[in-house]
Amino acid sequence: MKHYLASTPDNLAWPTSASIEHCEIADDGAVVVRWDDQQLSRFHPLWLRDNCACNICLHAFTREHLTDLLDLPLDIKADKVKLDADGALVVSWQLDSHVGVFNPGWLFAHSGLPQGQNSQEQCSEPLLWTASDLPEPLSFNAVDEQVSDELLLEVLLAVERTGLARIRNAGSSRDTIEALGLRVGPVRETHFARIFDVISLADGDSNAYTSERLSAHTDIPTREAPPGLQVLHCLVAEAQGGESTMTDGYKIAADLAEQFPQDFTILSTVKWCFANRGGDTDYRWQAPIINVDSDGKVFELRLLPFSRAPLMTDYENVEPVYRALQRFMTMANSPEYQMNYKFAAGDIVIFDNRRILHGREEFFPQSGDRELRGLYLDRDDMHSKIRMHTNQRNRQAAGLEV
Ligand SMILES: [Fe+2]
Ligand SMILES: [Zn+2]
Repeated sequence: MKHYLASTPDNLAWPTSASIEHCEIADDGAVVVRWDDQQLSRFHPLWLRDNCACNICLHAFTREHLTDLLDLPLDIKADKVKLDADGALVVSWQLDSHVGVFNPGWLFAHSGLPQGQNSQEQCSEPLLWTASDLPEPLSFNAVDEQVSDELLLEVLLAVERTGLARIRNAGSSRDTIEALGLRVGPVRETHFARIFDVISLADGDSNAYTSERLSAHTDIPTREAPPGLQVLHCLVAEAQGGESTMTDGYKIAADLAEQFPQDFTILSTVKWCFANRGGDTDYRWQAPIINVDSDGKVFELRLLPFSRAPLMTDYENVEPVYRALQRFMTMANSPEYQMNYKFAAGDIVIFDNRRILHGREEFFPQSGDRELRGLYLDRDDMHSKIRMHTNQRNRQAAGLEV
């Protein structure tokens, strides 16, 4: 892998095994680059001009644009192209004779070509699972109750890929969860407690706490943006029952799309409202249960069955919509899709609250104490943390840092 010196429109390192063998301007004005493996890339002169990383176009520290987008002529043409002594692409444009130097590592990563071992893949593709693929969360052991930076990164990568991960032997200090959470990002506050305690005491007033089974759900779909990650730290696990359940919502959505496409269409288009209407607040939001982006990719599940508000739909839709939701919930709570495991004291589980449907078996407060402490984070903080680590690794590999 080579690290080129030419600057990039960011603060990242882009080591690459690809190099530019030849460059030219095609008849239609495209800047054509031939890579050393003979693949060709066509770059639009306007796109190149907009991504010029020189100090006139880009602020040296913020790496934000100084050029006004409206000042870019749509018909801008490249005048000359060449490779500099280091192998970077040099482009000059007609009219203002502006010159830009393009780092081949950055250019290759933005070429749209398959990246292969060059991969700067900054977010890993989700790995969909059933209960037989993943009977328990991927687990990582704290050492002397401490979670090192390296271990935390492994945990976050597992969350990014499978939707959840478990740290074991993290001790039972009440401060651990907040300290760990803040290493990922700010605590995501909601209209519930910033850090919440799920406690049931053997000699407590058991009627004050629900010990009922909780079916597969996501937390707080009653808000426009539900929390992205949930972190639960088990401090005491003496009560019988109360096994945790986790289901990969992405897997169910994928299987539903294949086996019952009509139900998938219903759940990804018809909006349900979920509401927290108790107390002195009124939080509610309407959205489909399966949320799909403009590429048709599922990016979010929202389902809190016991907080459902009245379905508002045409008369003839009522039965099909309920049928689709029942099908989804049956899958989400089935042993085929749902992992089921017991918390031990010192376990910390982190899961993606917009992907994983979580739940709990009934537990028996008379049989012993049970205490969990939890908080929310956002997905963005996890992704940023992973990208920063990837960049640091790339910079070290390039010899830019020790
Ligand atoms: Fe929950
Ligand atoms: Zn420039």
